[in-house]
Amino acid sequence: MRVGVLTGGGDCPGLNAVIRAVTKSLLRHGQCKGVQVLGIEDGFEGLMGGQPRTRVLRWDQVSGILHMGGTILGTSNSANPLRDAATLAQVQRNVRTLGLDVVVVIGGDGTMSLAHGLRQIGLACVGVPKTIDNDIALCERSFGFDTAVATVTDALRRVESTGNSHHRVMIVETMGRHAGWLALEAGLAGAADVILLPEIDYDLQAVAARCQQREKRQRYSIICIGEGAKPRGGSLTVREHVAHSPDPVRLGGVGHVLREQLQPHLQSEVRTTVLGHVQRGGDPTPFDRVLATRFGHHAAQLVIEGRLGRMVTLQDGRIGSVPIADVANTQRTVSLQHELIITARNIGVCLGD
Ligand code: F6P
Repeated sequence: MRVGVLTGGGDCPGLNAVIRAVTKSLLRHGQCKGVQVLGIEDGFEGLMGGQPRTRVLRWDQVSGILHMGGTILGTSNSANPLRDAATLAQVQRNVRTLGLDVVVVIGGDGTMSLAHGLRQIGLACVGVPKTIDNDIALCERSFGFDTAVATVTDALRRVESTGNSHHRVMIVETMGRHAGWLALEAGLAGAADVILLPEIDYDLQAVAARCQQREKRQRYSIICIGEGAKPRGGSLTVREHVAHSPDPVRLGGVGHVLREQLQPHLQSEVRTTVLGHVQRGGDPTPFDRVLATRFGHHAAQLVIEGRLGRMVTLQDGRIGSVPIADVANTQRTVSLQHELIITARNIGVCLGD
């Protein structure tokens, strides 16, 4: 059996831990059954050209990478194997030439949608959910999220000392696309006074009122805002459009928009920090290393048992799997009834409404 492994979409702490667990589990099984693991380079891009880019993964190549951020295989968040009929036909030829029986696809919702689309050329996939956004349907925790929450929490604590010393309003913008999980969990962990999420359009007056209240007593405020947040009646802040990409808009900059809106209402200076890619980098936390290892091991079991077309999940703390079809083209956003939303409100955090 020949099994491909690729990492697609944005990088994320814990990808290498999955590659390691998938490969080691398959190779150990293969000692009696004969399995070869082929690493595909730069996500689906490695399968798209006239010359597929792959390398055989042996035990030694995946040893010593558990703790490393990024991905040893490289990734791409613009490669689209479904772009047109010619691209798809080339992918099909490459899959045949390489003799791939199945590909373990480690990625976010965009990557899962592509994996689902590839069934039309008969390519069987097993999915492993990754994203710092934690927005993959039917999966309560994707690896990478815990590390990103730790990074943002640390940043919030750091800007607090400047806010406190200079009596400023400090805005910290997080990633997370159209889901507010990262801003919400890090905002709670970093004791933000205001947390603004894509799921709740913010009322500028409510945010200004909270900062004015704090101007009189504490004399500084910390606002944590997800990049997908928007003002009531306003629109998303788009950094750039990307043609032909499965993810056609890049968000970013709403923290600056909020600063402009808020400043005229306040005496204190308002400053913005956009955290950007530091949230995706660095070594995975122990939690993410273990979760990624569990996911990778389970993906290998699905391959061995021939349960293809499924994505590994974590639900109610248990590892399981669901059909990739059920998660393709959907996202898991924060429900307004979620316990963390209720908790935030009840401890007096302003959610902008
Ligand atoms: O999906 C992960 C993510 O980091 C999002 O939070 C963010 O909007 C996007 O990727 C950024 O992608 P890029 O690296 O292409 O700017």
